[in-house]
Amino acid sequence: MTIRTAVLPVAGLGTRFLPVTKSIPKEMLPVVDRPLIQYVVEEAFTAGIEQVVLVSSSGKGVLEDHFDSHVELEMALAAKGKDELLQLVKDIAPPQGKSISAVRQSAPLGLGHAVLCARPVVGNEPFAVLLPDDLIWTDGSTSAVLTQMVEQFDEIQASLIAVMEVSPSQTNLYGVIDPYDPELDDGNDIIRAKGFVEKPSPEVAPSNLALIGRYILTPEIFPLLANGKKGAGGEIQLTDAISALLEQQSVFGYRFRGVRYDCGDKTGYQMANLALSLQRSEMRDELLPFIKKQLADWS
Ligand code: UTP
Repeated sequence: MTIRTAVLPVAGLGTRFLPVTKSIPKEMLPVVDRPLIQYVVEEAFTAGIEQVVLVSSSGKGVLEDHFDSHVELEMALAAKGKDELLQLVKDIAPPQGKSISAVRQSAPLGLGHAVLCARPVVGNEPFAVLLPDDLIWTDGSTSAVLTQMVEQFDEIQASLIAVMEVSPSQTNLYGVIDPYDPELDDGNDIIRAKGFVEKPSPEVAPSNLALIGRYILTPEIFPLLANGKKGAGGEIQLTDAISALLEQQSVFGYRFRGVRYDCGDKTGYQMANLALSLQRSEMRDELLPFIKKQLADWS
């Protein structure tokens, strides 16, 4: 089975970015000059996804608008002969044969609940989930993370979750995979899971492989989400349902290639802006001396 649908949950409150997220969805915050949502939508389409489903909420219509055509703007750019900008704007729309639609999550009851809201659109087939606040940068020589995961799924035909090594002292900030056979899995890209532990303290963490916001899930996850069990924070947690899925079928971690920036967090977001700005030759020449001067002033 191939992966046709990607679910992008965007209905969270984004409280860590208040006050800006009072009126602007977190997923519209720009990294350099593109909103976070655009990075993940492009990642999904590049991986062969045909339909992207935003799980949205009131006040987030601007996310759908971003991918619509803007006739007035396009006419103004054309009239001024700004062809490059015109192309840039046109390229935001989904490519031929692909679509972006939205379903509503009536209240922010948790990531698991958000994924469940997309069930009628996904149907009974495996699907991807991408969290827009996890921006994963890959250079030109490496495929985007979802592309890497779709290739792995083609081989193993089982649910898989992106994992990355974090400092052992930081396991309490993440969901962590409990590997089935740590010795066998040592250094492998694909790691069979025995379980998942939410935010374990370093002394009891079964590994330092943290779960990151890219998933490929089989549809058997939906009944487990639908039983409505609340987990940490009183929310319906995706990780809890994946743990329950493990009792029925194998689930794997996938050690991806790429650099992940946690753009749901203010510091991670600034890091993403800095790193991606430095990739742009037109910005680097001015930015680098500025950063060096800042560093000198601070030391
Ligand atoms: P976060 O845990 O980052 O929550 O959600 P949040 O509300 O966006 O941000 P903070 O913690 O209050 O600052 C991870 C992803 O899951 C989505 C969010 O939009 C984000 O993409 N989400 C979360 C939902 O769609 N619905 C929910 O009920 C919860």
